[in-house]
Amino acid sequence: MQQAKSLRLSQSQQLLKRAEAVIPCQTQCFSKGPTQFVKGVSPHYAVRGTGCRVEDVDGNSYIDYMGALGPITLGYNHPKVNEAIRRQLEDGALLSLPHPLEVEVAEKLVACIPCAEMVRFTKTGSEATSAAVRIARAFTGRDLIVQSGYHGWHDWYAVTKPLRNRGIPKVLLDYILPFPYNNADSLQSILERNPGKVAAVMLEPSVLGPPNHGFLERCRKLTYEHGALLIFDEVIMGFRIALGGAQEKFNVVPDLATFGKGMANGMPLSAVMGRAAVMKSCDDIFYSSTFGGEILSLAACKAVIDIYQSEPVIEHLAEVGGKLLRGTRERIRRHGLERYIEIVGFDARSMFLFHAPRPEENLILKSLFHQEVVRRGILCNGYHNMTYAHSEEDIQRTLAVYDEAFEVLKEALDTGTLRERLQGVPMQEVFRPVQ
Ligand SMILES: Cc1ncc(COP(=O)(O)O)c(C=O)c1O
Repeated sequence: MQQAKSLRLSQSQQLLKRAEAVIPCQTQCFSKGPTQFVKGVSPHYAVRGTGCRVEDVDGNSYIDYMGALGPITLGYNHPKVNEAIRRQLEDGALLSLPHPLEVEVAEKLVACIPCAEMVRFTKTGSEATSAAVRIARAFTGRDLIVQSGYHGWHDWYAVTKPLRNRGIPKVLLDYILPFPYNNADSLQSILERNPGKVAAVMLEPSVLGPPNHGFLERCRKLTYEHGALLIFDEVIMGFRIALGGAQEKFNVVPDLATFGKGMANGMPLSAVMGRAAVMKSCDDIFYSSTFGGEILSLAACKAVIDIYQSEPVIEHLAEVGGKLLRGTRERIRRHGLERYIEIVGFDARSMFLFHAPRPEENLILKSLFHQEVVRRGILCNGYHNMTYAHSEEDIQRTLAVYDEAFEVLKEALDTGTLRERLQGVPMQEVFRPVQ
């Protein structure tokens, strides 16, 4: 199999050079930054999204599986969401008093998310998780947070990232206790070692796939027994595996939950929600933000919920995503790559795991896969965030590209030429050491 031809990337590369002069890290989000793509091979700047396609600044078009890191669930440029935003724009994006949409959208979320009796809005997932932590501490009068998963860039959590926690007082490490996902025994022993001290257990309720049988139920029971709150961080899974997230899908209801990404099909909106008695702690804490009630995003969220409730969005994400997941797994097997590539996760959000013969080459293997698919018109950075806009035809086209890419990978692995075939700078870990 021939390696794919290189893309025209001159505009992307010029912009990246300009960014190096004026934007530290060159971007606003690690996962969109140049280290997460194969420099010299991949585009760096996109100018347009339509349905499930993204066009880069040099005019190359891709079937996109990044979904802007998750927020795009209905597809880019969705006409009904755009119309809702446009109509609201005529009346204003932000006014001097709260807009009625704050009430309407809060009511809608209360109606469709199991734990939600009251809701506060904010803009990003990180703000929502930080608000949830503050609410939990205020409600319980305790300080410790036990956590599993990723919860954003704010101090209380980011202090746990040893390669990225410069600038954060290390004393905060005394207040956060990580536990491994799916390990309720570990959670139990942390709670037993800290009686009366744990305000909340916050976790991503599902990460690389469904939780082990009984895990979420035990988290629920243990938090009750120890007087701690249970918080589900549904920033990724909300509006994706179910409208109401993992709590709806797995039928375990936390005290508080945080939602973000998928709420408004790309508009910046997040929320913390939960039991009324707990949420009322907001009356006594400092949680206040100028843009908290920004109206374009609320209008988008209202349109998004209406679409989810009147069209088979969740079913479609699972159907096309399931075909892609199973088709990919079958091709991995057919090409004899099972030892090197795995695909895991949910139909609506599946993810590759790359295992090179030498572990230090995992990212080289991932980069070579990325190189071979991006040059063939597929923007996949190791995961598939499915959208309502992906069609059967897109899936078939993607699988045909994966067939070709897997053939290149197999040849490279058989001949020990992974590095030689990579024509750019390999991707790095998201949380690489700070120099
Ligand atoms: C589970 C989870 N929580 C919180 C966040 C932080 O969200 P944001 O990047 O919008 O601040 C993310 C972001 O990826 C996430 O995946």
